Amino acid sequence: MTTRRVSILGATGSVGKSTLDLIERDPERFEVVALTAASNVAALADAALRTNAKLAVISDPALLPELERRLIKSSCRAATGKEALSEAAAGDADWVMAAIVGCAGLEPVMAAIEAGRTVALANKESLVTAGALMTEAASRSGATILPVDSEHNAICQCLADNSLGDVSRLVLTASGGPFRTKSRDEMAAMTPEQAVAHPNWTMGAKISVDSATMMNKGLELIEAHHLFGLPSDRIEILVHPQSVIHSMVEYIDGSVLAQLGSPDMRIPIAHALAWPERMDTPAQRLDFAGIGSLTFESPDYERFPALRSARGALEAGGAAPIILNAANEVAVAAFLARKIGFLDIVRTVEDTVTRTNAVAPRSIAEVIDIDREARALANHLMREMAA
Ligand SMILES: NC(=O)c1ccc[n+]([C@@H]2O[C@H](COP(=O)([O-])OP(=O)(O)OC[C@H]3O[C@@H](n4cnc5c(N)ncnc54)[C@H](OP(=O)(O)O)[C@@H]3O)[C@@H](O)[C@H]2O)c1
Repeated sequence: MTTRRVSILGATGSVGKSTLDLIERDPERFEVVALTAASNVAALADAALRTNAKLAVISDPALLPELERRLIKSSCRAATGKEALSEAAAGDADWVMAAIVGCAGLEPVMAAIEAGRTVALANKESLVTAGALMTEAASRSGATILPVDSEHNAICQCLADNSLGDVSRLVLTASGGPFRTKSRDEMAAMTPEQAVAHPNWTMGAKISVDSATMMNKGLELIEAHHLFGLPSDRIEILVHPQSVIHSMVEYIDGSVLAQLGSPDMRIPIAHALAWPERMDTPAQRLDFAGIGSLTFESPDYERFPALRSARGALEAGGAAPIILNAANEVAVAAFLARKIGFLDIVRTVEDTVTRTNAVAPRSIAEVIDIDREARALANHLMREMAA
């Protein structure tokens, strides 16, 4: 077995830490090239020292001196800035975990793809906002994109070597989030603490709120379209509260293949980390008799209008998914800061998408421009809403 040289973008986050956990359990198999974080300097330095990383990148330049001080006795180089982040993404590693949250991940992901790396993609915003640009760049450079989102990773496993031409539909499963059974009136009063308390998964705050609004599933719908090339009407969303089946693929002969596992991100991360081989994980094994039954429900597009907005953005194409994603990011941040209510998140997204007109981007720079304008409009609309 050859040693895999890995870099982790967003090493201090939920996905980043799970990736480090797997690497540290099997140190012979991996060499850590670079680790990055936004501002969590203590956790970044600690991980770099534990894994003998060669490069540690902190996005906040004010924290570079502290990172240097923490790494002074090691051979790990401390750095900051866009170029350092691109170096972490496209430098010496052959496998890159893209686990920065939000649009901040776009440029480094593109750098890794253009450099032809194997990119384990957790940063779903990359495909949601720049899916066509990223997949075209991957075809040109020969980069492999391995989905880390549990649903897309499940589909990737169910597809295996089958031809996409033999697929009739994809079924994306959704837990339904913490408010699955709540009425709109009950949701109106929900706090950030209640929204981030996901029934099955432990995740970062932003994606947890997205699960509560079900915007997460909407973003995943757009992500699935770009990863697997199927149109909106052949990607179904199905609520499955136990989160045991992570998604399914139906073939033209009527066969349905599903991937099952406990709700532990280390399973899809391990699939991408060891790909095309397999590796051990400490994830809990499924106790089928203990689970007893698996249930399914159709999603409720009235109580969870984020699903309708996301499907609409996918079908509209062009810049619509960028605007949807940008407005959602700022609205979720405002909700977490207690500036707007839970239902105002999707209201802000819908208003922003309706009021923006932008053409399809031709470059990541244009994606970032559209994103910036949509954020400004969403912030303006939230201020109007509060007035
Ligand atoms: N968590 C999950 O189970 C899960 C599942 C599927 C997909 N995903 C996707 O994976 C991505 C990461 O999610 P997460 O839950 O791991 O997020 P998270 O816990 O919030 O971690 C985000 C990571 O990105 C870094 N970061 C944040 N803003 C940055 C910026 N402006 N520039 C550079 N680095 C920045 C953070 O550094 P600091 O720690 O210094 O802030 C941290 O290392 C997201 O796109 C999410 O949708 C997550």
